[in-house]
Amino acid sequence: MKTSSILLFLFSIILLVFYHYNSRLPKPSPAQSFLTFSSSEIDILYDESTLSNINEVRTSHFHLSLVLDFDEQTLSGTNELTMISLTDGLQEVHLDIRNMTINQVMDQDFNSLTFQIEANPFGDESIGDRLRIQLRQKPALFSTFKIIVTYRTSPTATALNWLKPEQTSTKTHPYLFSQCESIHCRTVAPLQDTPSIKSTYSANITVSSSVAVFMSANKTNQYNLSENQTTYEFKCSIPIPSYLLAIISGNVVEKQVGPRTFVITEPNDMPAFSKELEDMEVYLKTVEDYITPYQWGYYKIVILPPSFPYGGMENPLLTFASPTIIAGDKSGVFVVIHEIGHSWTGNWVTCENWENFWLNEGFTVFLERKGGFILNGWDHYAIASIVGNISMVDDMKTYGFNDSFSSLHPQLRQRNPDDAFSTVPYEKGFQFLVYLESLVGQELFRKFLQSYVTRFAQQSLVYEKMAEFLMSFLIENEAFDKIKDKEIDWNQWILQPGLPPVDMAVYFKNEALGKADKLAADFIAGQGEITPNNTEIFYDFDMNLKLMFLQYFVDRIDSIDLKIVSLLEQVYHLNNNTNSEVAFLWLRLNVLVDNQESYGLVESFLSRIGRMKFVRPLYVALNLKHHDFAVEIFKKNEGFYHPIAVRLIKQDLSIK
Ligand SMILES: *[C@@H]1O[C@H](CO)[C@@H](O)[C@H](O)[C@H]1NC(C)=O
Ligand SMILES: *[C@@H]1O[C@H](CO)[C@@H](O)[C@H](O)[C@H]1NC(C)=O
Ligand SMILES: *[C@@H]1O[C@H](CO)[C@@H](O)[C@H](O)[C@H]1NC(C)=O
Ligand SMILES: *[C@@H]1O[C@H](CO)[C@@H](O)[C@H](O)[C@H]1NC(C)=O
Ligand SMILES: *[C@@H]1O[C@H](CO)[C@@H](O)[C@H](O)[C@H]1NC(C)=O
Ligand SMILES: *[C@@H]1O[C@H](CO)[C@@H](O)[C@H](O)[C@H]1NC(C)=O
Ligand SMILES: *[C@@H]1O[C@H](CO)[C@@H](O)[C@H](O)[C@H]1NC(C)=O
Ligand SMILES: *[C@@H]1O[C@H](CO)[C@@H](O)[C@H](O)[C@H]1NC(C)=O
Ligand SMILES: *[C@@H]1O[C@H](CO)[C@@H](O)[C@H](O)[C@H]1NC(C)=O
Ligand SMILES: [Zn+2]
Repeated sequence: MKTSSILLFLFSIILLVFYHYNSRLPKPSPAQSFLTFSSSEIDILYDESTLSNINEVRTSHFHLSLVLDFDEQTLSGTNELTMISLTDGLQEVHLDIRNMTINQVMDQDFNSLTFQIEANPFGDESIGDRLRIQLRQKPALFSTFKIIVTYRTSPTATALNWLKPEQTSTKTHPYLFSQCESIHCRTVAPLQDTPSIKSTYSANITVSSSVAVFMSANKTNQYNLSENQTTYEFKCSIPIPSYLLAIISGNVVEKQVGPRTFVITEPNDMPAFSKELEDMEVYLKTVEDYITPYQWGYYKIVILPPSFPYGGMENPLLTFASPTIIAGDKSGVFVVIHEIGHSWTGNWVTCENWENFWLNEGFTVFLERKGGFILNGWDHYAIASIVGNISMVDDMKTYGFNDSFSSLHPQLRQRNPDDAFSTVPYEKGFQFLVYLESLVGQELFRKFLQSYVTRFAQQSLVYEKMAEFLMSFLIENEAFDKIKDKEIDWNQWILQPGLPPVDMAVYFKNEALGKADKLAADFIAGQGEITPNNTEIFYDFDMNLKLMFLQYFVDRIDSIDLKIVSLLEQVYHLNNNTNSEVAFLWLRLNVLVDNQESYGLVESFLSRIGRMKFVRPLYVALNLKHHDFAVEIFKKNEGFYHPIAVRLIKQDLSIK
């Protein structure tokens, strides 16, 4: 950190505390917040999902010094936090922890500090515990001090997935990967586990020399600590929220595939994966040209073992991706454009709490689809948006259209944010931005996005701040008349659950969809006995159009006969499709028509892939038809799935 930026940082802390002390306002309730929002409230941070006293003390840097032990399945060592006191007479520091052993807490002079663990204060074990540390001396207001916590993680830490060699591709070495978003970092290290606070970090990780380590940071050094042990040093000099802390270790190698882009994966998969991802520089350049220059130096992606529960995770310098994005024909790589988009929205400009998660995901889907439009054209863009809408409506159905989880502002007070994880923040957020774009015009909206990521660079914010910024941006650009106050119903769009207040379908009109629908309709009309005469047009459909084709049957499931599904297989060999999105929807259709012949494939899919987007709906469908069979498959594969997935699938199957 340069002196000038330290000064700037202190200055902003002073401002922030000034506001804090002069306002002491109660938290505005979401419904009134936009109207009453004023700058004096801005810098009090709100996060219902942390147990830390974030408005009294904040982390500016932390250093992890850890031994990574595959036999014990633990990380153990110290976290040295550099903190700034924001209150006169600070007596305690509260950190988030969950399922870890705290051995000792010290101050910077290595004096022991007393501490207590307040277990499960929110009454939900999954949110974790509060580590209360009593300081020996009250640090002066705005002064910096350090706390050193010695700890050991648990083998059941939810952020840490320890794989046996058999669960990897090369099957020779164990493998560890983390997944901290949303609130799992508290199982990896004691810290302020909140997206509202950003800090730099560094790490010394010691591990058996037979494996490599990568983190969401630059590697700055590596040396042999002993005959069998290597220490890796990392440094992340751009402040990040805790959920972007990431680590992997295993038999992995790195290969450069473009001027700024790298692929990290197991050696035997590298040839195929690096080929599939050779165009990443093009995607990076496309998004960068649309918005602002890329700030993180390199872009690196890890293709993880298949139990990774998400499509991708945007850790800086270490994007994680599921191997399900590798289809062999680049048809799954849109996930990479999404993760690249997070370099601006999510990692650079971050949601302040998980109730504002759409600021990460809605904006990033917007960038992803812009990239898709620039690279692949209108039909691609429009159909991807319609496919997204279908998932969103499905998720709203599951939660209930009237549930706050079907809104862009889920109420998470003392609830685990993972429970609210769905496509709603992605797709409803995206549609809201398309709506705003339609009001102000494409060029001006692009300029707004550029100003937004510049204005809130390296900060976290709530949507009220974004709304306020949009208004002032339009006034400055003499465009306020385009968006008269009453036209944007923030309350309806953000706070109210259910379908968007404006039906956005008209913004995604396209020619291609009609062809897919017509073909599907012809199959249905043929009742599985007559094959339509133009079946070959299917091969020109891109992934999303294939999905829409299959969705046509899913939407009319009551009139779909097994014979139709068998004919589809006979004509298109969908059982062999290598695109995981298509394969998933195809299997779901088979389960919905209770095609007994498909259950072998369904079971094999569920035991090979742990990505929740696919396995959860498949379990839900299977559960409705054959609960016991669904539970049996789940039990067989429970050890393979990620802990986050296990917890949610159990809810889906209504089992403990
Ligand atoms: C972590 O959780 C596991 C499983 O619930 C439990 O057996 C273990 O005792 C916990 N460890 C700590 C240190 O809390
Ligand atoms: C990391 O380890 C090296 C070697 O032990 C040491 O020189 C360095 O000071 C450590 N870094 C920090 C920040 O403690
Ligand atoms: C570290 O040890 C490995 C063998 O485990 C050896 O190949 C390598 O040369 C050593 N590196 C240094 C810097 O000593
Ligand atoms: C290093 O590993 C070898 C083989 O596993 C073992 O024989 C040796 O004792 C180890 N050395 C140390 C210093 O642990
Ligand atoms: C990583 O290193 C590059 C090159 O020195 C630098 O531009 C970039 O800011 C660093 N990134 C982080 C996250 O520290
Ligand atoms: C939705 O919830 C609101 C407030 O809880 C209630 O007034 C309304 O009747 C509900 N509507 C439906 C359709 O359930
Ligand atoms: C989303 O789905 C709903 C319900 O089917 C529909 O009314 C709406 O027009 C769709 N919107 C888009 C953008 O496709
Ligand atoms: C295909 O069938 C449609 C009727 O479903 C017919 O109108 C069309 O001419 C046929 N095309 C060919 C090439 O046979
Ligand atoms: C589909 O896959 C099976 C099993 O891998 C293979 O035997 C069969 O030939 C494939 N069929 C087609 C049409 O590719
Ligand atoms: Zn995302």
